[in-house]
Amino acid sequence: MTLRAILTGTGSALPRTRVSNAELADRVDTSDEWIVERTGIRFRHIAEPDETTATLGAAAAKEALAAAGLEAADIGLIIVATATPDNTFPASATKVQALIGAPDCIAFDVAAVCSGFLYAVSVADSMLRTGAARHALVIGSETFSRILDWEDRTTCVLFGDGAGAVVLSAKHVDDDQGILATRLHAEGKYGDMLYVDGGPSTTGTVGHVRMQGREVFRHAVTNLASVLGEVMTEIGLSPDQIDWIVPHQANKRIIDATAKKLGLPAERVVLTVDQHANTSAASVPLALDLAMRDGRIKRGDLVVLEAMGGGFTWGAAVLRV
Ligand code: UT7
Repeated sequence: MTLRAILTGTGSALPRTRVSNAELADRVDTSDEWIVERTGIRFRHIAEPDETTATLGAAAAKEALAAAGLEAADIGLIIVATATPDNTFPASATKVQALIGAPDCIAFDVAAVCSGFLYAVSVADSMLRTGAARHALVIGSETFSRILDWEDRTTCVLFGDGAGAVVLSAKHVDDDQGILATRLHAEGKYGDMLYVDGGPSTTGTVGHVRMQGREVFRHAVTNLASVLGEVMTEIGLSPDQIDWIVPHQANKRIIDATAKKLGLPAERVVLTVDQHANTSAASVPLALDLAMRDGRIKRGDLVVLEAMGGGFTWGAAVLRV
């Protein structure tokens, strides 16, 4: 028997307001045609003032708990991956803890931007397997709309708000169920290719997203294909054994190019970028929840998660759901 982190539930939450490309084109110098052709994005959800990273994260967490058949009191670890916390501190994880009514437990945030959920899953996996908790809530939640420069058409059309959550439970198993491998990377020398031009310790302001899109695109395809190869090699599986890939939803062209590099057909790729745009740390758990709920991903499937973002940071995880 092996102690593994098993996926026992998923959930998600989206802000009430959905904005189409055409609506965006009314206020920004862009067009539906350009956005669809270059990114695959058609809609994004934008948070209203009463919707925050913590409230969206808590809503997703409640769904994931219900799916796992657990109560907030069962949770011993809460990790929120976010680059857009409600406050500089306390951590959004402690806010989520209070909102869902979880008693004393371990709660903290992880900041790895779009790869944040992969980092959080990897940390939770390690902590569950060393006995720090029996059940963990791992949440990706973002309100990127709050840090967008709405005058900058090269970035503001690309992002959206939302949250996704999973419950991971430590269980002794005698098969290959659960998280089988995770792999994380970071290369800080590329920090100025995708960053926010403010922060508490520098400008004392929140700042706005800045990106050299073409450079990020190029690195994304190379790094994602390479980290996917690494996790598959680690567990001795080949790409044709993957049932589903749940990629970070930044750009359909990045997703297509990465799948092609691995020889994975489009039918095995979960795509939500058209509906949600890039929700940063929320994008992978949001897509995972959608595909679990609509029956595409079934119990027993081999699923691969991957993401790449600011830092640069990137990572992948393989699990049998
Ligand atoms: O989450 C991880 C981080 N993010 C990413 O992975 C994003 C990675 N990058 C990308 O997805 C793409 O590079 C973008 C979607 C950001 C841009 O696509 P691109 O094909 O690389 O376009 P580009 O930046 O080379 O721009 C092409 C043209 C430019 O015009 P000129 O200079 O050729 O006349 C831009 O000014 O498109 C123009 N443009 C726009 N036009 C209409 C840029 N943004 C827009 C816009 N609407 N919103």
